Amino acid sequence: MSTTEAEVDSLRAEALEALARADGEAEREAWRADWLGRKDGRLTLRLRGLKDAPAEQRAALGKSLNQLKTTLESELEERRESARADALAALSADDALDVSLPGRPQSLGRLHPVTQTMNDCIEAFAEMGFRVFEGPEVEWSRYNFDAVRIPDDHPARDMWDTIWIDTLIEGERQILLRTHTSPNQIRVMEQSEPPVRVIVPGKCYRQEATDATHEWMLTQIEGLAVDEGVRMSDLKGTLYAFARRLFGEDRQIIFHHSYFPFVEPGVEMAIDCFLCRADGSDCRTCHGTGWIEILGAGMVHPEIIENAGYDSSKYTGFAFGVGIERVAMLRWGIEDIRHFYQNDLRFLRQF
Ligand code: DAH
Repeated sequence: MSTTEAEVDSLRAEALEALARADGEAEREAWRADWLGRKDGRLTLRLRGLKDAPAEQRAALGKSLNQLKTTLESELEERRESARADALAALSADDALDVSLPGRPQSLGRLHPVTQTMNDCIEAFAEMGFRVFEGPEVEWSRYNFDAVRIPDDHPARDMWDTIWIDTLIEGERQILLRTHTSPNQIRVMEQSEPPVRVIVPGKCYRQEATDATHEWMLTQIEGLAVDEGVRMSDLKGTLYAFARRLFGEDRQIIFHHSYFPFVEPGVEMAIDCFLCRADGSDCRTCHGTGWIEILGAGMVHPEIIENAGYDSSKYTGFAFGVGIERVAMLRWGIEDIRHFYQNDLRFLRQF
């Protein structure tokens, strides 16, 4: 369809009049489709029809039609803009919404108490020269058990009730959720040469009937130091510094003999009860003994050193495993480990 200049003028008048009558966004949108719609808008069709106009008029006519298009587009945008401004003005005039009220503050999150405690433990060991290593939570049973001297029939496996992955490899279950961080002693030694000085923080899993001191998920830090001439006194000094750093400068520590298959000798370390100061009362934290067990440790079994390919006549080492939830419970006097993972903000906000 070709157009004349006079028609352009009357088209402009008609379009602008229609736009003035378009009330509300739906009607404005209908107007846009009617005039500027990509497929069959009235102006669009005229522009398309330019090619049929007499050659000598085509350029001038094209210019007018394009100008008209720009005018219509900007008029529409202006109408929309002023409608938005009106709506906003109406909103703030309305008592229901007082835009001068201060905004609602965002509530800030914070680190979980176990994460805070973990960070403090990591910092304490890092200052003593331990670097951080991480291992997988889904582990081979050969690392979790066999490599740390807990063979299949070993009664010590009962200490770690295991959550297995239900996949059989060569007819056997071989994959599990690690029950402790100790398999990383092996992973670290496999990947490095002595001297070794690492800590391995991470989550562990056990098939537990949960109670105030047992959860099916727990967090540990494993420690391992192997070098020429590492002795029990180095283990003591390291853990003593750790205990004082976390529980106060005047802390005392005591080692009791204990058994873990991967260390010899094995010990449990306790700190003096900072609540009752060993006054022999019925303190709930130390049960009146004056001492609180906080971790297991020992000298790395020579067989493990040998299996790692190190010469056990030259290299010795110590290892330890700390339960982070336990440390956090002691620090803040938390009486039930289950609080940590119930996501109750009334509990979590206290730390
Ligand atoms: N893996 C032990 C547990 O989960 C803790 C432990 C004890 C780790 C003695 C050690 C250690 O490295 O020497 O109960």
